[in-house]
Amino acid sequence: MFEVLKPIPQDPILAMMASYREDTHPQKIDLGIGVYKNDLGDTPIMQAVQQAEARLLQSETTKSYTAPAGSPLFNLRSAQLVFGTEHPALNDGRVISAQTPGGCGALRMGAEFLRGCSSESRVWVSTPTWANHIPLLGGAGLDIVEYPYYDYSNKSIQFDAMLQALEGAKQGDFVLIHGCCHNPSGADLNREQWDAVADLLERKGLIPFVDMAYQGLGSGLDDDAYGVRMLAARMPEMLVATSCSKNFGLYRERTGTLFIVGETPEQTSNAGSQLFSKIRSHYSMPPSHGAAIVETILSDDELSTLWQDELSLMRHRIQGLRQSLVTKITASDIQGDFSFIEQQFGMFSFLGITPQQVEQLRTEHSIYMINSSRMNVAGLNDQCMDYFVAALGEVLKTP
Ligand code: LMR
Repeated sequence: MFEVLKPIPQDPILAMMASYREDTHPQKIDLGIGVYKNDLGDTPIMQAVQQAEARLLQSETTKSYTAPAGSPLFNLRSAQLVFGTEHPALNDGRVISAQTPGGCGALRMGAEFLRGCSSESRVWVSTPTWANHIPLLGGAGLDIVEYPYYDYSNKSIQFDAMLQALEGAKQGDFVLIHGCCHNPSGADLNREQWDAVADLLERKGLIPFVDMAYQGLGSGLDDDAYGVRMLAARMPEMLVATSCSKNFGLYRERTGTLFIVGETPEQTSNAGSQLFSKIRSHYSMPPSHGAAIVETILSDDELSTLWQDELSLMRHRIQGLRQSLVTKITASDIQGDFSFIEQQFGMFSFLGITPQQVEQLRTEHSIYMINSSRMNVAGLNDQCMDYFVAALGEVLKTP
C-alpha cells in the first residue's frame, strides 16, 4: 500500500531549521525559526523555569493521568494571564480553558471544535499568515478563505482592504486574528483598528479565533492582550489559542491553552464538554511537565516577578536589535528605507528582499531566513550584526 505514497515537502520553517543545523560555516546566522536567542546566540532555559523545575522535582508526587482539560490550576493561571484577573467574562463563568500540547494543539483542537459546531462556516485567515495555520485549520476540515493583511510595498497593514474583504464573510464564519506580534509580518493592529474589527465582527455575526502565541514579546503582557480582552468583553462567542513556547521559552515542552468564550455559563460548559470529547479522541490528555512549570511560576510572587523581568529583558532586547539593525543599515551604503523594522512588533519582520536574494544570503553567507524574507530579528546579536548588514549589502547589489 505504501509504495504509491509520494513524499510531502517539509514545512518551510522546519526545513530551514534542519539546514541551518547542518551548516558548518563559523559565522552562520539563524534568522529562520521563531526562537528567542540571547547575545551569545543561545536559547537558554529561563531562570524562573529552572527554579520552578527544581521545586517540582522535590514536590511532585505522581505521574498518574490528569484529564483532557489538563491541570485546573494551570488553566486558571493561564486564563488570568491572558484575560487579566478581573475580566467580566471570567467572573461571569463564560470561559472554558483547556491546557493543550503547545499553541499548535490549541489551534487544532479549536478548529476541530469549530468544525463540529458548523460544517458550513469558513475560517478567514490573514494573507500572509503563519505557514502552519492553514494545515492546522484546514486539516480539521474547515474551508479557508483569506483576507488581505500586509501590504508588501508600503510595509504596513492594508486595513481598508482587510475590512472590505471581511464584509464578504457570512454570519457564523470564523476569523483568525493574530493577537499580537503578527507572524510573519510583525505588523500589528493598533487599538483603533482592533475596535473597528470588533464592530465589524459584531455587526456581521462573525466569531473571532485569536491566536496569541507571543504575549509579552510585543509591547508588554497587558498591552499585547488588548485585542483579546476587548473582544472577550464584547463578543458573545470567541476562541483564543495561546502558547508558552516563546514567553516561557518552553518550546519542546509543548504547552499552550485553548479558551472558549460562550454567551452564558451553561452554553460555555456545553461547548467545553464537546471540546473535551474531541481532545479525548485525539490525544486523550496533554503532556504535563510544561504546564506544571507555568502554574508553579504564576502561583508564586517571587518566581512570577523573576519571569516577568526576564520576559521584559527579552522584549527590550528584540526592540534594541530592531533599532540597531535599522541604524546599521542606514549607516551603510544600502539604498532604501528599512525604518519599518523599528515600528514592528515581536520576533518577525519581512526584510522585503526577493527569494533569490534570500537564497544568496543562505548559499553565499550561511544566513538563514524563510524564502518570503521573514526574518527572526531575535536571531541577530551584536557579534553578527555587521556581518549580516555587509552580506545584505552584497546581495542587494547583485542585479
Ligand atoms: C515560527 O513561526 O517560526 C514558530 O512559530 C515556530 C514554528 O513552529 O513554526
